[in-house]
Amino acid sequence: MLGDFGGGPFGIYVHVPFCATRCGYCDFNTYTAGELGTSASPQSWLAALRGELATAAQRFAALPTATPEVATIFVGGGTPSLLGGDGLADVLDAVRANFTLAAHVEVTTESNPESTSPEFFDRLRTAGFTRISLGMQSAAAHVLKVLDRTHTPGRAVAAAKEARAAGFEHVNLDLIYGTPGERDGDLDASLDAVLDAGVDHVSAYSLIVEDGTALARRVRRGELPAPDDDVLAARYERIDARLTAAGLSWYEVSNWAAGEAAACRHNLGYWDGGDWLGAGPGAHSHVGGVRWWNVKHPARYSDRVGEGGLPAAGWEALTPEERYTERVMLAVRLCTGLPLADLDADGRGAAERVVADGLAARTADRLVLTDRGRLLADGVVRRLLVP
Ligand SMILES: C[S@@+](CC[C@H](N)C(=O)[O-])C[C@H]1O[C@@H](n2cnc3c(N)ncnc32)[C@H](O)[C@@H]1O
Ligand code: SF4
Repeated sequence: MLGDFGGGPFGIYVHVPFCATRCGYCDFNTYTAGELGTSASPQSWLAALRGELATAAQRFAALPTATPEVATIFVGGGTPSLLGGDGLADVLDAVRANFTLAAHVEVTTESNPESTSPEFFDRLRTAGFTRISLGMQSAAAHVLKVLDRTHTPGRAVAAAKEARAAGFEHVNLDLIYGTPGERDGDLDASLDAVLDAGVDHVSAYSLIVEDGTALARRVRRGELPAPDDDVLAARYERIDARLTAAGLSWYEVSNWAAGEAAACRHNLGYWDGGDWLGAGPGAHSHVGGVRWWNVKHPARYSDRVGEGGLPAAGWEALTPEERYTERVMLAVRLCTGLPLADLDADGRGAAERVVADGLAARTADRLVLTDRGRLLADGVVRRLLVP
């Protein structure tokens, strides 16, 4: 059950399901070596990944439309840098063996600062990676400790500089704000560090207390306070003001870039409703209005690939209503806004009220969030969808 390609840019996401330790706030599909035991390893994962990519390429070849060239690749996780430079080069070779890459393909890998080095970045550059995304989170040691991050405060900035020195023009730093115990001064120190690193992209996420995580248990027991909405809003405004003053402008509610060329094209593909193959345990794919998601456990994933076929746990063809909901949810968060023509009559009525409340502005043909609207983006989406 595959949809046909929709005509937009085509991307490939590869999920690396390994981390050295688990951060208490994170509920991503990732496993430590202790959790996996002998059931799966980076080697068995890479063999299965090769199998999945080959099967997907064969299935795509049977579609009416020729498989588009791959415009973007994003190796995420988990901790891709645990594979080392050679391991990540193998991943890229596995994609190349099965798909044709576009001439100016964007190839990103996420990396944890503590598992990088100048040699690692040199190897990635030679292999064909074009973009590095580093999980910095904070420059304050006590915040990193609450988050269970194992890198020292200075390591993320040093890694970003090493990546630049290795020839990476596009380097991102991820920040988390609103961690219990974070003070305004800690956030300022994080922003000073980000700006000192000279990166061309920053993602900043408010800390989400995900159910089932160690952080959620600590908050429930009263050991840590839950992030406060007013504090989160003030922190977001602070981040936006400082990044904007330094020449990094927002292009998605949680993402800032030094100009259009610095935006992450892979993520823009998701937000613009493009097509992508998600390979690896638990990865999600979307081609032509059909979505599927892989089995989550690396051992089960390898088994399923070994049985032949795609290792999907489920499939769904999006209904017109679901496509509409996705379009509104994603486009409204972009600085380019939501085309008013994409809204139905109820949505256009709601858009007028959102504009009257100062949460969005109306350009000739689009609805674009105001600064206040960005703080309340989820609420704006709800109002547009349930007028
Ligand atoms: C899942 S990680 C994968 C890359 C890498 N392991 C790292 O930690 O940077 C991608 C980003 O998601 C962020 N993230 C994960 N869980 C989060 C949460 N509960 N709230 C906010 N950000 C979160 C991470 O901090 C990281 O910057
Ligand atoms: S290193 Fe990244 S993926 Fe791994 S547990 Fe921490 S936040 Fe999650």
